[in-house]
Amino acid sequence: MSNQSKQIIEADFLIIGSGLAGLYAALCAARHGNVVLITKSALSESNSFQAQGGIAAAISPEDSPALHLGDTLRAGRDLCNRQAVEILTQEALPAMKDLENLGVSFDRNGAGNLDLGQEGGHSRRRILHASGSATGQSMITVLSRRVLENRRIRLLEYTTATELLVNEGRCFGALAYQRNEHGSQTLLAPTTILATGGAAALYQQTSNPPTATGEGIALAYRAGAAIKDMEFMQFHPTALYQKGKRSFLISESLRGEGAYLLNPAGHRFMPEYHELAELAPRDVVAAAIHSEMKKAGADCVFLSLTHLNADFMKRRFSNIYKTCLEQGIDITRQLIPVAPAAHYTIGGVRTDLDGRTNLDGLWACGEVACTGVHGANRLASNSLLECVVFAKRAVETALRSRAPVGRLPIREGNGWSPLEDPSKEWEPTARLLTEQVGLVRNRAGLSEALKNLEKLGKNNGTASEWHDRLLVASLMAKAALLREESRGVHRREDFPAQEQSWQKHIVFQKGREPGFLWN
Ligand code: SIN
Repeated sequence: MSNQSKQIIEADFLIIGSGLAGLYAALCAARHGNVVLITKSALSESNSFQAQGGIAAAISPEDSPALHLGDTLRAGRDLCNRQAVEILTQEALPAMKDLENLGVSFDRNGAGNLDLGQEGGHSRRRILHASGSATGQSMITVLSRRVLENRRIRLLEYTTATELLVNEGRCFGALAYQRNEHGSQTLLAPTTILATGGAAALYQQTSNPPTATGEGIALAYRAGAAIKDMEFMQFHPTALYQKGKRSFLISESLRGEGAYLLNPAGHRFMPEYHELAELAPRDVVAAAIHSEMKKAGADCVFLSLTHLNADFMKRRFSNIYKTCLEQGIDITRQLIPVAPAAHYTIGGVRTDLDGRTNLDGLWACGEVACTGVHGANRLASNSLLECVVFAKRAVETALRSRAPVGRLPIREGNGWSPLEDPSKEWEPTARLLTEQVGLVRNRAGLSEALKNLEKLGKNNGTASEWHDRLLVASLMAKAALLREESRGVHRREDFPAQEQSWQKHIVFQKGREPGFLWN
């Protein structure tokens, strides 16, 4: 499809993506100038919208940012950036206050105190949630309303960024494709903030909406930004499994309330894998489920909450209860078939502690960014927190380093084309990623995957959604092939041990050999 109508739009801030990081960044930025916020789908379609468990913050009197820091570092398997985690955990409380001031209403118990949930790897109850397990929907609905009523924010839906505009190492905006009009737009701003989310929807089994395809990583890489930790794709241990159907997240917070995992023989297996059993960190639970499935030759294991109070479970997890019921499963009486699904892209655009990338004028926050807070294994519910804490820091720092766009070589359109039927056209590649770049990898599978990805890239033009997806998939496979150890969410069959010599990060930058950064 060729680009037809052409438009040039200027603003103080260009924000790409409308999940929690994008919306929050837009609201922070609008206090200081005009904002253009673009999103490739509808405002309500984002990974954040689908988030269930909640948002972690050390709020209870028995908790502290230091305990939250310790849990995050432990889960991250010696690969977190300690300073970034200190910021994350210390700024959690003010971030929650900001959200409440914007109108987010976190669930409270009968005594009026915040009702804190429990998830794997957390040593304290510290998960704030809203509308039970519809936390993302509840937060995004509130923030979207704030964005829509803000006269300084211009929202462009169904608008995909297709190229970052860069001149002499400075980003000054982006080219975009408007899906409804097949038109191109040139968006100019001294500050561009990428908040496009992750890439887990490139996989066949995923908890993510179909839009989570990682194009922000492709855009940034092509523009010269450094991309880090791409081998670390986190698989959520428990997504609803029904052969041939889309996965649906079955929140870890159900296990936080006492749900058990059973193998196909009906045996509760997690105590044999970790002292915290079902509440072990996510990498351990996902790998244990994978191993039980493999031993039994089964496609899934089961989550059981039939021993728990049915009324409480229905109330606390109403959206999970309803969705499963629609699929013919009454979770208060029947076992839930679950299997791991691609869930969260730990790697992404490398940033400093303020969301700054190596390109002037370009910032990144949320899942597209790699701030270093998750190391090799993200602690549950730290991702929404990261969105809020680092979106704010990005806007505040960007304000201090703005340079005018001035006279620059402005182009209108680049001939970028979208996939016409993404789920159908991408399906074989999604299968390839799940099979060969999945939860457990090995050299043979990764090499084969890379060869195939390369072949798929050769037969097509260069500026397209297809190529953006292939680029991100290739970065994931290349990094996974390079890292010859098992650490956190990256499990190599042929290198099962964690190695001290690999306590470092893999960094890609266009036109250069892969680099290594010591932690
Ligand atoms: C969940 O509710 O299990 C997901 C939470 C997360 O991924 O942080």
